[in-house]
Amino acid sequence: MKVFEAILMDMPKLPIGLELTKKYVVRSEDTAKFLGSGDVEVLSTPAMIAYMEHTALEAVQTYLLENLTTVGIRVDVKHLRPAPKGAEITVVAKLIQQDRRKLVFEVKAFWNEDLIGEGIHERFIVDREKFLSKLRDKLGGR
Ligand SMILES: CC(C)(COP(=O)(O)OP(=O)(O)OC[C@H]1O[C@@H](n2cnc3c(N)ncnc32)[C@H](O)[C@@H]1OP(=O)(O)O)[C@@H](O)C(=O)NCCC(=O)NCCS
Repeated sequence: MKVFEAILMDMPKLPIGLELTKKYVVRSEDTAKFLGSGDVEVLSTPAMIAYMEHTALEAVQTYLLENLTTVGIRVDVKHLRPAPKGAEITVVAKLIQQDRRKLVFEVKAFWNEDLIGEGIHERFIVDREKFLSKLRDKLGGR
């Protein structure tokens, strides 16, 4: 079993084209005014990106062993249109490429029919405990 798990850890093969769609409502805490990334009450760019990351995370999580997760390593996104507080936005993350532990997603956000954001997001498969213990080592055991 251990050997099998090691093989999966090294090379979990995920289905290219796998896609997840999620809906989010723009809360006060998501606005540019609240986060300080702007001074208007519209969906902020960092909140839109967080929703894209969350959708990509969930898209692949069920394909990974329990000890594994993914961490965001790259975001290249255009914010094309504003969306107001209270709007329901739809976010789609599609796995388009895998290079061993690196996963590449195409991400899109819509408000109704309008494309409000799109781009590429990369995530890296890590062992949750190893990832955190490396960080603890950096803190010198604190
Ligand atoms: C992603 C991250 C963990 C990579 O760190 P790292 O120290 O380079 O990588 P690791 O040592 O964990 O893994 C590298 C290993 O993966 C392998 N690997 C697999 N796929 C790879 C790929 N596509 N590209 C590069 N290396 C890859 C390497 O060969 C290497 O193997 P080895 O350990 O046998 O030599 C690091 O960049 C990071 O922590 N980024 C921050 C992520 C974050 O905090 N995000 C916010 C929270 S979600």
